[in-house]
Amino acid sequence: MPSQPLVVAAGVVKSYSSGNAVVRALDHVDVSIEAGEFVAVVGPSGSGKTTLLNCLAGLDDVDAGTVMIDGVVLGQSSDADRTDQRAETMGFVFQAATLLPAFTAQENVALPLLLTARSTREARRAARDALAQVGLGDRTDHYPAELSGGEQQRVAIARALVKRPRLVWADEPTGNLDTTSAAQVLSLLEELHAGGATIVLVTHDRSIAARADRVIEVLDGRVLAPVTAAPAASAVAFGGTALAPPAEGAVERS
Ligand SMILES: Nc1ncnc2c1ncn2[C@@H]1O[C@H](COP(=O)(O)OP(=O)(O)O)[C@@H](O)[C@H]1O
Ligand SMILES: [Mg+2]
Repeated sequence: MPSQPLVVAAGVVKSYSSGNAVVRALDHVDVSIEAGEFVAVVGPSGSGKTTLLNCLAGLDDVDAGTVMIDGVVLGQSSDADRTDQRAETMGFVFQAATLLPAFTAQENVALPLLLTARSTREARRAARDALAQVGLGDRTDHYPAELSGGEQQRVAIARALVKRPRLVWADEPTGNLDTTSAAQVLSLLEELHAGGATIVLVTHDRSIAARADRVIEVLDGRVLAPVTAAPAASAVAFGGTALAPPAEGAVERS
C-alpha cells in the first residue's frame, strides 16, 4: 500500500475578524505534502502564507476543512495531545528568532528538551552539539542581545533541530537577514532536508523558493500552483501564465 502524504489539508477556510471587517485569509485550500519533501510557500505580503503555515502546523484552528498530519486529523485530539505531537515531531523557525532574552544561547536551545523526560545535563550537551552544528559552538554562553540577527536566527534553527524533528515549519526565516546569514540559514535547512526531514518554508523570495523541490503559490488566500512534484511538467502546462515563474526557477536549478 502506498504511504499517505505526511500533511494533507482539504477545503481549509480561515477568516479573521477585526472590528467590522472580516478577512478570509484562507479560502478553501487543498495542500498535500509528502514525507521528505522540501516545499516552498510563496506569495505576496498578506496573501495568507503565515495563516496557511499556522493552520497546517496546528498552531491555529481552521474554520472549515481538515488538516491531517501523519494520518491524525488536527483538532480531533486534545490540545495536550497536539502540544505533545508538536514537541515530539516538529520544529518551528519564525521570521524573528523569538529567543528568550534572559537565557543564553545554550539555554534557549536546551529548553525544548527540558519539556520531555531527559536530564538537564543531557539537554545541555545536546544543545551544545546543535549550536556547534550551526557554527555557533563558540557562542553557547552568549545572550541573544550579544548575538547578531543572523546568529540569533541560527540559534533558533539549532533550537528547532535539537530534537531532530521529522517536520520543520519555517516562516520567512531569512526575512530579516543579510545575504550571507540568509545563505547560512538556508544551507542549514537544506542539511536538515538532506538528513530526511520534511521542510515547509514560507518565503517571498523567489530565488530561495527555487531551491525547494516544489513551490506552492498562494494568492488572496488561495493556492494557485497545482500541487505537483514535477516542476518541468507544470512549466509546460502553465508556460506563459502567471504561474510560470516558480516553475522556471525550479527548472533552471535542475
Ligand atoms: N490575527 C489577525 N487578525 C486579523 N487579520 C489577520 C490576522 N492575521 C492575518 N490577518 C490577515 O489575513 C491575511 C493573511 O495574512 P498572513 O497569513 O499573515 O499573510 P502573509 O503571511 O502571506 O503575509 C492578511 O490580509 C492579514 O491582514
Ligand atoms: Mg507572513
